[in-house]
Amino acid sequence: MKITSAKLACFSPTGTSRAIVQAISDGLSINEFELVDMTKPEVRQKPLQTANDELLVVAMPVYSGRLPVLAENWLKEMSLAGTPAICVAVYGNREYDDALLELQDIVRKQGGVPVACAAFIGEHSFSADGTPIAVARPDKQDLERASAFGTAVQKVIDSFEPNAQIPEISVPGNRPYKERSKGAPLDFIEIGENCTECGVCASVCPTGAISKALPTTTDLDKCIRCCACIKACPVHARSMKEGAMMDIARKLSKMCGERKEPVTFFAN
Ligand SMILES: Cc1cc2nc3c(=O)[nH]c(=O)nc-3n(C[C@H](O)[C@H](O)[C@H](O)COP(=O)(O)O)c2cc1C
Ligand code: SF4
Ligand code: SF4
Repeated sequence: MKITSAKLACFSPTGTSRAIVQAISDGLSINEFELVDMTKPEVRQKPLQTANDELLVVAMPVYSGRLPVLAENWLKEMSLAGTPAICVAVYGNREYDDALLELQDIVRKQGGVPVACAAFIGEHSFSADGTPIAVARPDKQDLERASAFGTAVQKVIDSFEPNAQIPEISVPGNRPYKERSKGAPLDFIEIGENCTECGVCASVCPTGAISKALPTTTDLDKCIRCCACIKACPVHARSMKEGAMMDIARKLSKMCGERKEPVTFFAN
């Protein structure tokens, strides 16, 4: 199968899924790439379309063992026309539960042909100085593994005959997928007096929850708790308040200290 270009799709509020999708592309022998970063609201306006002579590499973060709702809705609008696809879940060293299975299912349903799947580890969105979880991942080793995975997938794709039937890839997870908990809006972000109202937090927020005119104001109904604003603030004015979210972050920091490693899956 001859593939000449690839689309790299991700939702990545804190940048780890984007880093993985780009590292995978480094290992491919393809020169033409387009990054489709649907973290940006304007990118989500347009459904993704791909052709069968290109490759789709799609990496999504794991939220509560599932795909983020926002990402799921966008993925379900894709039109993939027989495109070979690499499906990747990026998780914060707890577990990826049903997210990778869900991603593969959606890609197949939208007309794509998953040729390989993987789960990689990224620093947990809730990780902070007092609650470290998978800090600075993906690290050099993870990125090298992502690139090597890209090279391995390239070999598999090169060996496929045109119109080859590729079976479903066996990945962990269950159907029906885990129920998503219906979390009520939560006021979990503290804004310190050192806030300069620079607006960086508003510009990185994937849901437009932070007012551009007054960045100290957050619309809690729009907030998906991705923590992008906390991690991006140049003067560390944003932090997690004491309360339910901080309790979860502390628990995860205690429970998820043991380093997990990336895993990859191919069709048999
Ligand atoms: C609301 C929320 C729920 C999360 N749930 C999980 C989870 O179930 N398991 C896990 O290991 N990590 C979980 N994480 C951590 C992210 O999957 C992880 O940090 C990922 O690397 C973030 O991707 P990004 O940098 O592309 O935004 C969660 C993060 C958020 C914001
Ligand atoms: S990024 Fe930080 S300093 Fe800038 S407006 Fe947001 S909270 Fe304030
Ligand atoms: S306000 Fe909420 S949705 Fe927006 S960046 Fe911050 S945590 Fe994410």
